[in-house]
Amino acid sequence: MTQLIFASNNPHKVEEIQSAIGNMVDIVSLKQAGMEIEIPEPHDTLEANASEKSQTIYKLTNENCFSEDTGLEVYALNGEPGVKTARYAGDTVDTGKNIEKLLGNLGGIGDRRARFRTVISLIYEGKEYLFEGICEGQIIDHKRGSKGFGYDPVFMPSGSKRTFAEMDTVEKNVFSHRKKAADRLVLFLQEYII
Ligand code: IMP
Repeated sequence: MTQLIFASNNPHKVEEIQSAIGNMVDIVSLKQAGMEIEIPEPHDTLEANASEKSQTIYKLTNENCFSEDTGLEVYALNGEPGVKTARYAGDTVDTGKNIEKLLGNLGGIGDRRARFRTVISLIYEGKEYLFEGICEGQIIDHKRGSKGFGYDPVFMPSGSKRTFAEMDTVEKNVFSHRKKAADRLVLFLQEYII
């Protein structure tokens, strides 16, 4: 079976990616690979940050690997927080403060449209390939639900009356940006590799 290291320390992302990809690829998390490394995200695009993460792991392991970077893009805020999604409210990642700042900045604004965008960077036999997944939706005005992570309690995908935080992973996968990007990765692997 094809084995890929997934360059993420986020257990939620690992679970979602595992569930999205199923059992056709053996996904090895950084933890499982015995790597304790915090990979920087210094760039101003999701593509460049995803690339940085997969290139870092590839240089260290010389193994096939992939990473993902995700941003929340709010239309009325000109695409913010975007690449700053994790550190919207400051350098320390604080999800509660990030959501508070987002709801504050959207106060009194009627246009609540937003989208999650995920970029996966795959490095396979030394070559890099990028895959994108987008989930359109809206930011509601208070938190709902306790599942998931990050901005899930305030993000309601188009076509649902529930937030991501009110869905389990399988339900979130019906709409999810990460699942869509993962589907493209799987299609690519099926077509060209496996
Ligand atoms: P990164 O891709 O690890 O840089 O994630 C950026 C930020 O986006 C993190 O702080 C997460 O809180 C948030 N985020 C990423 N994916 C999701 C998601 O699927 N739901 C909610 N928030 C997310």
